[in-house]
Amino acid sequence: MERQTTRVSEQEIARQREFCEKMSELLSARAQTPLAYVDTYGCQQNEADSERLRGYLRAMGYGFTTDENAADVIVINTCAIREHAEDRVLGNVGALVHAKRRHPGQIICLCGCMAQEEHVAEKLRQSYRHVDLVFGPHALWKFPELLYRVFTRRGRVFENADEPGSIAEGIPVERQNGVKAWVSIMYGCNNFCTYCIVPYVRGRERSRLPEDILAECRELAQAGYKEITLLGQNVNSYGKDLGLNTDFADLLEQVNAIPGEFLIRFMTSHPKDASQKLFETMARCEKVAPVFHLPFQSGNDRVLKAMNRIYDRSGYLEKVRALREQIPHVVITSDVIVGFPGETTAEFEDTLSLVEEVGFDALFTFIFSSREGTPAAKMEDPMPMAQKKANFQRLVDAQNAISAQKHAAYIGKTVRCLVDGVCQEEGFALTARTPGNRLVRLEAGEESLIGTYQDVTVTGANTWSLWGRLSVGG
Ligand code: SAH
Ligand code: SF4
Ligand code: F3S
Repeated sequence: MERQTTRVSEQEIARQREFCEKMSELLSARAQTPLAYVDTYGCQQNEADSERLRGYLRAMGYGFTTDENAADVIVINTCAIREHAEDRVLGNVGALVHAKRRHPGQIICLCGCMAQEEHVAEKLRQSYRHVDLVFGPHALWKFPELLYRVFTRRGRVFENADEPGSIAEGIPVERQNGVKAWVSIMYGCNNFCTYCIVPYVRGRERSRLPEDILAECRELAQAGYKEITLLGQNVNSYGKDLGLNTDFADLLEQVNAIPGEFLIRFMTSHPKDASQKLFETMARCEKVAPVFHLPFQSGNDRVLKAMNRIYDRSGYLEKVRALREQIPHVVITSDVIVGFPGETTAEFEDTLSLVEEVGFDALFTFIFSSREGTPAAKMEDPMPMAQKKANFQRLVDAQNAISAQKHAAYIGKTVRCLVDGVCQEEGFALTARTPGNRLVRLEAGEESLIGTYQDVTVTGANTWSLWGRLSVGG
């Protein structure tokens, strides 16, 4: 029996808004607008969560800064996916002791996926005593109440009990970008890939109601957003917990029907339920960008099985073939792990050959990182790190050659791109994105073009990006 998604009631969210009011009263005595710094690590899900944290902070009367010394409240929204990500956070949190010494009364909060891990919470409890508030993703919706508790009781607060997770609607959002918006459509993951911490820190798969998602997308389209990215750890499983007969393909179709000039993207997909229906829907829906991020993780069947990925190599290749049949020029990107426990170099060669065979537009490559509490952490891992790194480098080199070749094919073409920002690099004025999400640096152009679609002629390319100029009359 599927678990029914638990929803946070409207009354409970209304109560959180009352805590925002109370915080605002507490803070109103201050001569200057209090400032908050929200520092975000990890995936887009965390970026989307930080927009809600900022929404709450704004409702409490905070302004924003990126200077940790100027901040009255620092919120660090963390990622637990690899050891390196965690070490970086702990290093930065450790260093905040100095900011706090200079600024007594500063409140330091740590939230996100690391906070949900019991051994991390314990470390924070014992060794990072300058951290005042620790809360996991499940408690994000009660941030105002938790912060109020820290303010009024002057004690440390830890709120990271494990639970399957719930859905909260109606949290205020402070979006970081006026052109591109994130919309979470579901939370959590049920897949339990043996290397991955996400199901343990984000809880079970649960979907927002289609009408809530559509209302948010309609608002964004009306506000002039040009790109909407639908987010979830595995968006292809959308709706399975709702029992409404709306699957991810149906949802895409409904978002596509919203009037306005915007593109729809989505992240991330698991190959096991990337269906023919979804490929056909994408091909039919003109607003859905021709791009698919489809992580394969390994090209070897024994390793895929040990990872609990459900599909095998030929199944994956078949999905890619079916997708390309529907959308011939689709941009395909992927994630891959090198050095999974027990992977031999011969098995790694299968990953390399899959990469050559598919010809991904871009690849996100990771060396396996052992995560406490996952099954892979207990597996024999005899390969020396030096060998893993050598294999990793071969993969990176192979992909770089493919990416460079794919990018070179754009030269001379004119592509309709969304101008999305100012380019920080010398010799370039603006950045833009192709429908397939390739970065294009524009040699010249007014900032007023940001947020508009323009025809761009691509004049050059390297492994990582394209460059070009606005087409005359474009
Ligand atoms: N839900 C997404 C992935 C989220 S994590 C999906 O299933 O596609 C993003 C990527 O990080 C994963 O695709 C995987 O390649 C990588 N990753 C996850 N856990 C890892 C670990 N323990 N070590 C190394 N890479 C890992
Ligand atoms: Fe992790 Fe696998 Fe879930 Fe992706 S699908 S979040 S890799 S457990
Ligand atoms: Fe990291 Fe959590 Fe995302 S572990 S990748 S921030 S879901």
